[in-house]
Amino acid sequence: MDRIRIRGGKPLFGTLAITGAKNAALPLMAASLLTEETLELNNLPQLADVSTMAHLLGEMGVRVTLNGNSPDGCGGRVLELNARSATNTTAPYDLVRKMRASVLVLGPMVARHGRARVSLPGGCAIGPRPVDLHLGALKKLGANIEINEGYVEAEAPNGLTGAHIVFPSVTVGGTENILMAAALARGETVISNAAREPEIGDLAKCLIAMGVEIEGIGTDTLRVQGRERLNGVRHTVLPDRIETGTYAVAAAITGGSLELTGTRLELIDTVGAVLTAAGAEIEETETGFKVSRRNGPVCGVDVMTEPYPGFPTDMQAQIMALMTVADGAAMITETVFENRFMHVPELCRMGAKINVHGTSAIVRGVPQLSGAPVMATDLRASVSLVLAGLAANGVTELNRVYHLDRGYERIEEKLVGCGADIERIKE
Ligand code: UD1
Repeated sequence: MDRIRIRGGKPLFGTLAITGAKNAALPLMAASLLTEETLELNNLPQLADVSTMAHLLGEMGVRVTLNGNSPDGCGGRVLELNARSATNTTAPYDLVRKMRASVLVLGPMVARHGRARVSLPGGCAIGPRPVDLHLGALKKLGANIEINEGYVEAEAPNGLTGAHIVFPSVTVGGTENILMAAALARGETVISNAAREPEIGDLAKCLIAMGVEIEGIGTDTLRVQGRERLNGVRHTVLPDRIETGTYAVAAAITGGSLELTGTRLELIDTVGAVLTAAGAEIEETETGFKVSRRNGPVCGVDVMTEPYPGFPTDMQAQIMALMTVADGAAMITETVFENRFMHVPELCRMGAKINVHGTSAIVRGVPQLSGAPVMATDLRASVSLVLAGLAANGVTELNRVYHLDRGYERIEEKLVGCGADIERIKE
């Protein structure tokens, strides 16, 4: 298993290009199942999760063609997906357990073929993460759903029919699954308490281009007029706001200055506000924005994760890494996932002072972290350890790097380009 070795303590300077968003790419790829025509996605990130989704769609009969880099200069890749012969309606356990987002094929599959058999994803490192909300909403659209031998078996032989869906709590994947199902359902579907993440807006824009009528993008109420058939389109995936926020923290934690290009400051509003409150400087540039921290340590800022437009749970571990070296204390509260503090003991091995009380962690800043061997437990936890390693004195060695490869494209290369001493040790 590969490891990453970092010799910390070097401020990062330079320019770093942000890729297309993983969490937009995955539902967009699943949306290819809704049409017989080709969906062309530009600015696709080169990530293990994208390959897993491409593999899953390929198993289902989707023709997946990788066509080099995007012509529009955004640097990402171009993927063509054609689901004309996608008749295998099963998503097997082996692929779904690797990546929960595989469950996003459920809605489009039932909507187009009247049936789908998708393995239940099971638990994951950051909590039980059930899919009950996806299933409840699909039932409302008229699907019969049974659980057999670890699989969700959904059937709607006469197609789905629009309905009013009220999600009892906000779910990103659930909103995406139902948005795609509603795209081919008869009549109008109203989704109340819908998630408002920019990735949902991106999916909705693509569906509109495919012929669906959708109102309320960016709000918690989506109105969808389903269509009998959808057309193919070319769509550019929006920039990854979590990668953006992660590298913004990299600039702040190392006391350097990074220009992030191919992205937009408004995508990380809340993260930008926390960084500014902590003492970092942010200025917009022509191609993105610049984050710098030159004057002394950052100061402690309290953070609470919430569904969008709140502070993203996917940035919680990274901001905690920053707070470990703050002048003062910070309280970090996680409200989205039950078990998302697994990076805490690892950060403590590097000299951080953190106490967890239920859903909150009190971080008391220390002047300096020290490098240590650490273990990645999930995607964002592992990148928080990379950030801590960049700031720490001495050598940090991160094990289980495959977590990192699920969501960060060429991370060592990008960081080396900005002056970091980081290398991958292949085994
Ligand atoms: C998506 C993101 C993930 C991010 C999360 C929250 C993708 C591919 N992943 O995950 O990076 O951390 O949003 O912003 O986009 N829940 C239920 N029942 C359900 C569905 C969800 O109880 O049927 C719970 C979850 O356990 C969790 C909360 O709702 O506690 C939010 O989950 P959800 O928004 O669905 O996250 P994902 O779509 O899985």
